[in-house]
Amino acid sequence: MNAALAKKKENLTLLGIETSCDETAAAIIRGPCKCPAPDAAQEAANILANIIHSQFADHADYGGVVPEIAARAHVERVDNIIEQALDAAKCTMADIDAIAVTAGPGLVGGVMVGLTTAKAISLSHGIPLIPVNHLAAHALTARMVENIDFPFLVLLVSGGHTQLLWVESAISFRRLGTTIDDAAGEAFDKIAQLLGLPSPGGPHLESLAREGRADRFAMPRPLHKREGCDFSFSGLKTATRLLLEQELDAGDDHQLKADIAASFQQAAADHLAARTKAALAACERLLEGQHSPRQLVVAGGVAANMTVQSTLQAMAETHDWHLIVPPAKLCTDNGAMIAWAGLEMIRADAVPPTEQAMEFAARPRWPLDNNPEGPRHGGGKKGPKA
Ligand code: KG4
Ligand code: ZN
Repeated sequence: MNAALAKKKENLTLLGIETSCDETAAAIIRGPCKCPAPDAAQEAANILANIIHSQFADHADYGGVVPEIAARAHVERVDNIIEQALDAAKCTMADIDAIAVTAGPGLVGGVMVGLTTAKAISLSHGIPLIPVNHLAAHALTARMVENIDFPFLVLLVSGGHTQLLWVESAISFRRLGTTIDDAAGEAFDKIAQLLGLPSPGGPHLESLAREGRADRFAMPRPLHKREGCDFSFSGLKTATRLLLEQELDAGDDHQLKADIAASFQQAAADHLAARTKAALAACERLLEGQHSPRQLVVAGGVAANMTVQSTLQAMAETHDWHLIVPPAKLCTDNGAMIAWAGLEMIRADAVPPTEQAMEFAARPRWPLDNNPEGPRHGGGKKGPKA
């Protein structure tokens, strides 16, 4: 245990800071610093404040996140967002026991802004610093609000990542599958852009798809003949683009666009469910002979999509797995998930000594699993988001 944290009381108050992409976010949470006994109920944390500023407007004219603009916007806002979080939680820095901050992966300029800010606060107020992996934070979020014990399977579907992770503890992750090209959120955003929808595309595409028929167009189901848990979205993206170009020749038809949106969305959801089903089988092998509950958690922005949720729910039910989806506000990037990951690291006795944390450099790439079983093709990371 970090020496400064070892002296602290039972309930800890953490400040969490997130700046790895296009959300400037800070949160204050309070929770017990010790893990409950194995069969006791998991004691979740209280979220005292969770302030998120999205930079959508800053990037709207560019069709995507511009790293330099993102970094500058974080610099301009991060202090104010932290102050807002402290005010909302009715706290001062004197109440904060530890600062958890995203140290990667993500856009390096943004990560540096958050990390440098956290280091400065840590140094000037003498508060221990916890560098957090953004992907670990997404994967652990559900434990902040639900009673979930390790191990569990996480499907992480965000703007930059599509991964299946077997979570053995707060610090031990096994990657079962990842995308060989685009991330799921990236595909939603690209198709939304082609449909002329505003940014961020995913939620707008979902709204449009509600007016459409998912069975009007037969979209390809990626990798359906290939075994394994990896994902691919580029073929589906291209097929949807070609369909749109071909069908829209006659003019701008709202119903046609809604039907294409619905057909694409169902194909993406089916693909996520098919690859997750393969991961459930792999996890059954890992769990052989154990009575642990079969738990599947969906995390990341795309987890907010109701078609994705219902398709996964139907698949999980068939295989007697319990599907857990954290509230949408905690699925997309936020400071509370970073603070919670910090608390999990404290509980796992995995916080580095303060001098080491102060030396921690921003990491644009930071795989959770140093010896991943995938991907077999490509790097599994595309686009600016993490
Ligand atoms: O996890 P997140 O907030 O940021 C990172 O990528 O880390 O995820 C953002 C992604 C975006 O691509 C956004 O369009 C997508 O999640 N998203 C959705 C929905 N809500 C957010 N995609 C489909 N349907 C949604 N309702
Ligand atoms: Zn994220």
